[in-house]
Amino acid sequence: MADISEDPDPNSLLDMAYSVETPDDSRDLYRRWASTYDEDFIEATGYVYHDNVIHLFLDAGGAAGGAIADVGCGTGVVGVALGDLGVVDVDGLDISPEMLEVAGTKHTVHGTPAYRNLIEADLTVGVPVDDHSYFGIISTGVFTHGHLGPSALAEIIRIAAPTALCAVGINEHFYEEHRFDAWFATAANEGKINAPELVSVPIYDALEGEHAGTRAVVALFTVMA
Ligand SMILES: C[S@@+](CC[C@H](N)C(=O)[O-])C[C@H]1O[C@@H](n2cnc3c(N)ncnc32)[C@H](O)[C@@H]1O
Repeated sequence: MADISEDPDPNSLLDMAYSVETPDDSRDLYRRWASTYDEDFIEATGYVYHDNVIHLFLDAGGAAGGAIADVGCGTGVVGVALGDLGVVDVDGLDISPEMLEVAGTKHTVHGTPAYRNLIEADLTVGVPVDDHSYFGIISTGVFTHGHLGPSALAEIIRIAAPTALCAVGINEHFYEEHRFDAWFATAANEGKINAPELVSVPIYDALEGEHAGTRAVVALFTVMA
């Protein structure tokens, strides 16, 4: 795998991210990427994914209940943006200790830490929190090629309280390839969630080249039990 610092082109970085295959690959990639992720990815691409998912979440009443989990929080763009809007009690969950360390340095415009707790967790294995801990769940950028597939949604439902609103962003191509629609239909038929509302949003505002124009499917659903 190429060295990140030698090739910070955002399209190459996305190719690298999409080529990971296992949780250990993710740990390795994000260990090397954590210190430069904000500059050479978030800023360079004009990343708008987090803002788009947050607005859908808040418009649907997502911050009304209590603590919120940011699944795959990375360096903390979701926590900062939520905090800037006055949403507190946000926990960040991520497999990468180095990404969590960066998230731990982030503050809101109000001067408060962006996150209440930062929790190292591999969603494919399990999150070290009790059932029904969160009243809202947000995720951007982790349900994508090489990262989390539909089976990880079961852990999201486990840690969500009944009536919790979830806003989960999923790369549009990955959504089709991995049949998220079938997973959601089964979960809804089993009474675990309501039928999700699906909204297509752009991920980048300033990316040119191969991955420009990539969109995400945001699944908005309520946990039933
Ligand atoms: C592209 S980054 C997205 C970070 C942030 N949400 C954002 O929108 O900028 C993907 C994040 O998912 C995390 N991740 C990858 N696999 C994971 C897993 N199995 N469990 C938890 N987090 C994981 C990575 O460590 C990384 O921080």
